[in-house]
Amino acid sequence: MLQKSEPRALRPMRSASTLKLTDITARAEQSEAFDHHEQIWLGEDETRGLTAIVAIHDTALGPALGGTRIWPHATFDAALTDALRLSRGMTFKAAIAAVPFGGGKAVIKADARTDKTPAMLEAYAEMLAALNGQYFTGEDVGLTLADADFLRARTPNISGTTQGGSGNPSPVTAHGVFLGLKAAVSHALDKEDLGGLTVAVQGLGSVGWSLCEKLHEEGARLVVADLDRTRAKQARAAFDAQTVDPAGIVATDADVFAPCALGAVLSTETIPTLKAKIVAGAANNQLARHEDAAELKRRGVLYAPDYVINAGGLINVAAELDPDGYDRSRVMERVARIPDALSNIFARSDAENRPTNDIAQAIAEERIRGARPG
Ligand code: NAI
Repeated sequence: MLQKSEPRALRPMRSASTLKLTDITARAEQSEAFDHHEQIWLGEDETRGLTAIVAIHDTALGPALGGTRIWPHATFDAALTDALRLSRGMTFKAAIAAVPFGGGKAVIKADARTDKTPAMLEAYAEMLAALNGQYFTGEDVGLTLADADFLRARTPNISGTTQGGSGNPSPVTAHGVFLGLKAAVSHALDKEDLGGLTVAVQGLGSVGWSLCEKLHEEGARLVVADLDRTRAKQARAAFDAQTVDPAGIVATDADVFAPCALGAVLSTETIPTLKAKIVAGAANNQLARHEDAAELKRRGVLYAPDYVINAGGLINVAAELDPDGYDRSRVMERVARIPDALSNIFARSDAENRPTNDIAQAIAEERIRGARPG
């Protein structure tokens, strides 16, 4: 179990500010999703319409890094649970990717389409600044590149902006997923190329599309699905892909299933229908429950843990915060290490007869413990 690091003091806010910051760590401890988080902050500003939770899970490896999600959760507790779970996931992702950051995540409880205003974002920028460099954030659902730029003009604690120069992280993420998928094929099927293999890709968004380009180039046969039928049709034309109904993509007859849409796609209901022997895709939180990885292993399916294979985006965003400045070639070198990290996890999973996600978590926890003083 991870131990807590000591939190730093808050930076004083302007006396005229209407933002109220409250440490709600004790309250968060009551949540089932609480897992030794270091600090949980609530930022409230009635005048400017902000209710924001910043969850700092672990800073042993560096300041917390994780996107800000704007979402109209039904209750405050639902927003808190989301922040707690997502920030914990970021700790493991950063540790495995070996970037000098810890895990954090913010949730603004609001509807991004109707409630997001410049005043709200102003108040949120004040909250970020007050956290005194303990938390760095970036885009997530509901927070756009333009919003990130707006925040960046008011606080340095934000990455993934146009000023940083790294642009859209999706092609970097897709490149890491492609290399990771090949490592999984090499391990499970003893094949070094994708020629003649069938890959079922769920979701043809920024990452899924870019992944399809690489898979097609490498000679893989593609079966694709997207809720957006136009996108699926475009993939049929561009990659000679077979399109299937979104409801049927998990059970498609394929060698590899690549989830690149939303989370919780692998569950007690879907796992028995899976025909592919490999799951390797970009989506975050692919497993409905952590234990589902054990069922995949029992069925002889090789699962590439999501936060290991999709770390390219994080590596890219972390590089923007590098004091020496963003360097694309260094980013790509780091992304090129993703297949080795996965191969190591696969080998340990076989040797210790444990699910791949247990191994990934153990490696991350070892690194975090190793970074703590004493
Ligand atoms: P996106 O929003 O551009 O694309 C998602 C696509 O999935 C959309 O085209 C949507 O219509 C489709 N979709 C949604 N539900 C579906 C379903 N049930 N069946 C079929 N298609 C469905 O998102 P993006 O950026 O491509 O990300 C994809 C996944 O990868 C997400 O889970 C994201 O959290 C994760 N990820 C993305 C990173 C990035 O750099 N963009 C980094 C790390 C993870």
